[in-house]
Amino acid sequence: MRTAVCPGSFDPITNGHLDIIQRAASLFDSVIVLILHNPAKEPCFSLSQRMDFIRKATQDYPQVRVDYYDGLLADYMRKTKANAIIKGLRAMSDFEYEFQMALANKKLYPEAETLFLTTQTENMYVSSSLIRQIGSLHGDISDLIPPVILQEVKQVLNHEED
Ligand code: PNS
Repeated sequence: MRTAVCPGSFDPITNGHLDIIQRAASLFDSVIVLILHNPAKEPCFSLSQRMDFIRKATQDYPQVRVDYYDGLLADYMRKTKANAIIKGLRAMSDFEYEFQMALANKKLYPEAETLFLTTQTENMYVSSSLIRQIGSLHGDISDLIPPVILQEVKQVLNHEED
């Protein structure tokens, strides 16, 4: 049983994330979408909202589940004996940061491999922060996030602005 972990803040999940998760699900027996704390960011959506959005967006993929861990990704990998960390790369600007993280995770837990999947061209510019910005200013985010979470995401973003 080969298990992949797709880690991130998912604040909120985007079409770019979902594409990477779906492709990971076609390569591995099971996929865990793992919400972790990014010390550089303060999340806009609550943990339960982010987990709920991911569950809804991946409901057609029975081999995908959602989890949360309040610690190092490497410790989660060790605890669950998962095999691979999957990261999406949009541009060279992602690479430097992701490469450093991959090396650090390899040092902390050598048994897990980090694999990079390149984004689809239509998702190259898509990010959670862009969605939060456009959505909170009442712009159209319908092509950027899974349709099943669109209304709830808009509600939270528009309410926050009031
Ligand atoms: O979606 P993001 O915010 O770019 O994801 C970054 C994240 C959450 C995967 C990263 O910050 C992380 O792995 N946080 C958990 C703590 C950890 O393991 N840090 C890496 C040390 S090498």
